[in-house]
Amino acid sequence: MKSYLGILTFVFHVLFVSGLSRNLPILSFDEGYSHLFGNDNLMVLKDGKSVHISLDERTGSGFISQDLYLHGFFSTSIKLPADYTAGVVVAFYMSNGDIFEKNHDEIDFEFLGNIRGKNWRIQTNIYGNGSTNVGREERYGLWFDPSEDFHRYSISWTEDQIVFYVDSVPIREIKRTEEMRGDFPSKPMSLYATIWDGSDWATNGGRYRVNYKYAPYIAKFSEFVLHGCAVDPLYQFKCEAAPTLDSIPSGITHEQRMKMESFRKKHMQYSYCYDHSRYKVPPSECVINAKEAERLRGFDPVTFGGAHHRGKGHHRTRSIQAKASSI
Ligand SMILES: *[C@@H]1O[C@H](CO)[C@@H](O)[C@H](O)[C@H]1NC(C)=O
Repeated sequence: MKSYLGILTFVFHVLFVSGLSRNLPILSFDEGYSHLFGNDNLMVLKDGKSVHISLDERTGSGFISQDLYLHGFFSTSIKLPADYTAGVVVAFYMSNGDIFEKNHDEIDFEFLGNIRGKNWRIQTNIYGNGSTNVGREERYGLWFDPSEDFHRYSISWTEDQIVFYVDSVPIREIKRTEEMRGDFPSKPMSLYATIWDGSDWATNGGRYRVNYKYAPYIAKFSEFVLHGCAVDPLYQFKCEAAPTLDSIPSGITHEQRMKMESFRKKHMQYSYCYDHSRYKVPPSECVINAKEAERLRGFDPVTFGGAHHRGKGHHRTRSIQAKASSI
């Protein structure tokens, strides 16, 4: 009996967890998405399965899913523009900001371009119920050059957990906590992919602007997976096609968790949980790790300095559940 269960669990992991979206249907562009803006700067390739969106001095470009989804597994492969990309922002994200203007939800992958010779960085973030006054950003370097080849970026979203993946590595897990209340995304969202001029925002707070001498900047997308519950948010928030959701690959195996921890130790460069200049008290879901705090302080003593843990590097790693009182 036990071994049967073991085999079943193993098969489940191979199919849905380790295999990630590999077994999920890959859609053509027209099956899942539509042009959103900058039409001239969006090109669907002949096979119908890949899209190029570009940024030049006239406009950026983007596309949006035809459906809104409540929970699911969403994924695409992206090859980012190379060389000098300061100020260029490529984003793959979920949002319902066009429907719920005051209380929108969002789950973001943002790629921040860089000056020549420096790699792209990735940022992840979420908002829920219009919680734009509480940013939950994290930023990371990567273990590869994302402009050299296609890599897969995935979002898994269930009722109580969000996981961001790069290829088969989970890089961030957000568990819904009681205290987060509406801040955890909970309403149907569309998928978006965009490229835009983030000069005022992206590279060191706008120090390096987009240089159009190097335009057009072209971001390439392919392997579209939209494996979620499509709903009409005006009529229902319930997922009627629930059976398909059984196969959302949301679990993280022990092996993947090890990979995630190792990734975060090596590559995380920013976390809102440690940003004393923004949050005197970290938001409630933050689990503060003394070693992590020390490492980030090494990167950026101003942002991650604060008075809290200074000079306490000898403390053993411990987790404290910080309580948000006034945010
Ligand atoms: C959502 O936001 C509104 C307005 O800020 C607030 O009144 C409400 O309590 C929030 N709901 C939840 C579940 O957090």
